[in-house]
Amino acid sequence: AHQWRGVIREYADRLPVTEQTEVVTLGEGGTPLVPAQHLSALTGCDVRIKVEGMNPTGSFKDRGMTMAMTAAKAAGAQAVVCASTGNTSASAAAYAKQAGLTCAVLVPEGKISLGKLSQALAHGATLLQVDGNFDNCLEVARKLAEAYPVFLVNSVNPARIEGQKTGSFEVVDALGDAPDLHLLPVGNAGNITAYWRGYVEYSTPWENQAGETVAPVATRRPRMWGFQAAGAAPIVLGHPVTEPDTIATAIRIGNPASWEQAEAARDESGGLIDSVTDEQILEAHRWLSAKEGIFVEPASAAGVAGLLKKHAAGEVEPGQTIVITVTGHGLKDPDWALKSADGSAIEPTRVPFDVVSVADALGLQ
Ligand code: F0G
Repeated sequence: AHQWRGVIREYADRLPVTEQTEVVTLGEGGTPLVPAQHLSALTGCDVRIKVEGMNPTGSFKDRGMTMAMTAAKAAGAQAVVCASTGNTSASAAAYAKQAGLTCAVLVPEGKISLGKLSQALAHGATLLQVDGNFDNCLEVARKLAEAYPVFLVNSVNPARIEGQKTGSFEVVDALGDAPDLHLLPVGNAGNITAYWRGYVEYSTPWENQAGETVAPVATRRPRMWGFQAAGAAPIVLGHPVTEPDTIATAIRIGNPASWEQAEAARDESGGLIDSVTDEQILEAHRWLSAKEGIFVEPASAAGVAGLLKKHAAGEVEPGQTIVITVTGHGLKDPDWALKSADGSAIEPTRVPFDVVSVADALGLQ
């Protein structure tokens, strides 16, 4: 059986690496594209979920981090740094270990989920809680990398975008062509930038490393629909948000680094960037786990929330092939699964240690 070798080796022809490159990988990518039966029935479309929580550290960041850490090693770096709402730090910490580099992460104070924090600490990163939000952390990280001998692994590093574009390669490889529509959450806007680049490259003749021209893999490109949290929706509002606020802490970002690239993806694809409320995000989060069997962290559900919102507004034409990227695993931030829609706690039913009581509790006759 074929063993998946990580995104760099699987897509070496389309990434800035050579046979001599010393690849840093944890086997990322190759994630499932799961049919969403209830979303499909609702919309009359063929809806598939790209489950990025299945990556080694539980989020899509690993696709970019294998490239960033490979680039850091090639550059002779000893130390890497990133700003993060949590997932980038978890990924950077793990890949830095694999690369034999030290890792420093800057996170906003008090707004990181315990799952992500524990990953960064477990992998031995130096974790600094900065008295500020994500945008402040990124500003400091960029300045640090300019003035000191540390290598920046945020998505402003072009290697990150290169790695993350493999998400769309996998979608096209699985479907046989690009979908009509691709939906995903937008925070710092690196991922929408990367997916669009992937779709553009896969639908364009490509010169491989042997100098041969390879025919396009896809005959078309999807419209890109990105969704920000309503309390952190600078691209939708058209101006930075100085105090972004949302329960979807992963996308609690007020001044995205890849703002212009995200607008280009939106405009070149004929798509849109809209916002969804925290209530809509949590409803989509519950829909995914309770109906489709897919457990994600809240921010990851923003694309599904967007589909539900647009469907309710009559703006989703039936008959389309739709892919939605869910970006991070539910175990990153599991507290949200223990609350019902009205905010009450969901708890297990307690039963005594005997088979009749258990059968009774299960309604078995
Ligand atoms: N979903 C999750 C689970 C994320 O962690 C992020 C970003 C996004 C969506 C948005 O992706 O920034 O490329 O638009 N998390 C970053 C971090 C900011 O530090 O982990 P984006």
